[in-house]
Amino acid sequence: MKKNIALITGITGQDGSILAKFLLKKNYEVHGIKRRSSSFNTQRIDDIYNDLHEPNPQLFLHYGDLTDFSSIINVIKKVKPIEIYNLAAQSHVQVSFETPEYTANADAIGTLRILEAIRILNLTKSIKFYQASTSEMYGSTPPPQNENSPMKPASPYGAAKLYAHWITKNYRTSYNMFASTGILFNHEGPSRGETFVSRKITMGIANILKKKQKYLYLGNLDAFRDWGDARDYAKAMWKILQYKKPDDFVIATGKSYSVRKFVEISFSLVGIKISWKGKGLKEIGYDKKTNRTYIKIDAKYFRPQEVDHLRGSFKKANRILGWKPEIKFKDMIKDMLDKDLGD
Ligand code: NAP
Ligand code: GDD
Repeated sequence: MKKNIALITGITGQDGSILAKFLLKKNYEVHGIKRRSSSFNTQRIDDIYNDLHEPNPQLFLHYGDLTDFSSIINVIKKVKPIEIYNLAAQSHVQVSFETPEYTANADAIGTLRILEAIRILNLTKSIKFYQASTSEMYGSTPPPQNENSPMKPASPYGAAKLYAHWITKNYRTSYNMFASTGILFNHEGPSRGETFVSRKITMGIANILKKKQKYLYLGNLDAFRDWGDARDYAKAMWKILQYKKPDDFVIATGKSYSVRKFVEISFSLVGIKISWKGKGLKEIGYDKKTNRTYIKIDAKYFRPQEVDHLRGSFKKANRILGWKPEIKFKDMIKDMLDKDLGD
């Protein structure tokens, strides 16, 4: 029987690595695009990568970059996937304020490059394309956000992703391509990048307990996010491409917590009750029993513009795809802490 072949851009990232494992379990042949880097960037997939000299490898890596059209078109031509998951991106919102042009090149034009490669290679009828869209596109639109909510991005990252979202919808309509989007709200887990707030908190706690770090420095504690578990969300990406027609789906939990609450719950899981005192940059998070300070505020972690509150409605995904989040918020934080305390 012919194998299903998937191509994942961003396979070395949090979502790409989880999706690769999910698809391998479903018996796909998985190809991934990785960037050349001066030090290893494949840690998240080392456990599934077999030496290609061994019999029957199922995972293949190709050098490429979303800013380099020739590498994209060549990989697609060579691999001839039936599904492409475009997960590659400069995905850090704060970094996008410092590298806005690169972010637009990789996240917005990078998506266009893939769509154009599919079109130029005459593969529009044989490839299903998934675009990793984001709740960051809603920006200042108040919750709950769904597929029809206005999009008012508040960062170069959000604006670049909104272009990618719309160009995907345009190619769907203009060229009758199976091009879908998943508008995913924040999702985390033990392989989350270390500079996103969830992982920064769980790693910070682990480092403090191991006496490798004294304080956890954070920015805005009062933003709300709808935090889900990346393992549930990888399943949703696949379901989106198995639906009979291309469409757009919000993937979220429907619940939101502040960064402050994330801190409190995470510390409580290691037996520390955090109280707060002070205001603005002088605010601290401390343990009343011991008077020990754990959290301080650093102005450098505030963004030029903040997205105040994200909370998604996943009703459409539930109704059409039968998808719903399975892993509980607290269990996800526990998993992250277990990983970081064990490292
Ligand atoms: P991530 O951990 O930051 O991974 C990003 C991946 O993209 C990495 O493999 C990275 O390679 C690769 N990449 C970056 N720039 C590239 C370029 N120019 N060419 C080729 N590859 C490039 O992100 P993630 O959390 O897995 O997120 C996956 C996707 O979903 C991203 O598009 C993100 O914007 C989107 N998204 C994420 C969330 C979330 O909460 N996680 C929510 C909504 C949408 P290196 O390993 O070499 O850096
Ligand atoms: N990173 C970070 N570091 N964020 C902090 C900090 C800090 O020290 N202190 C407070 N925050 C606040 C941010 O201001 C933001 O309001 C919230 O914590 C979450 O920040 P991140 O974890 O960096 O995630 P994000 O919401 O900006 O972006 C993530 O989710 C998007 C989906 O909504 C990324 O994964 C994006 O790629 C994704 O599209």
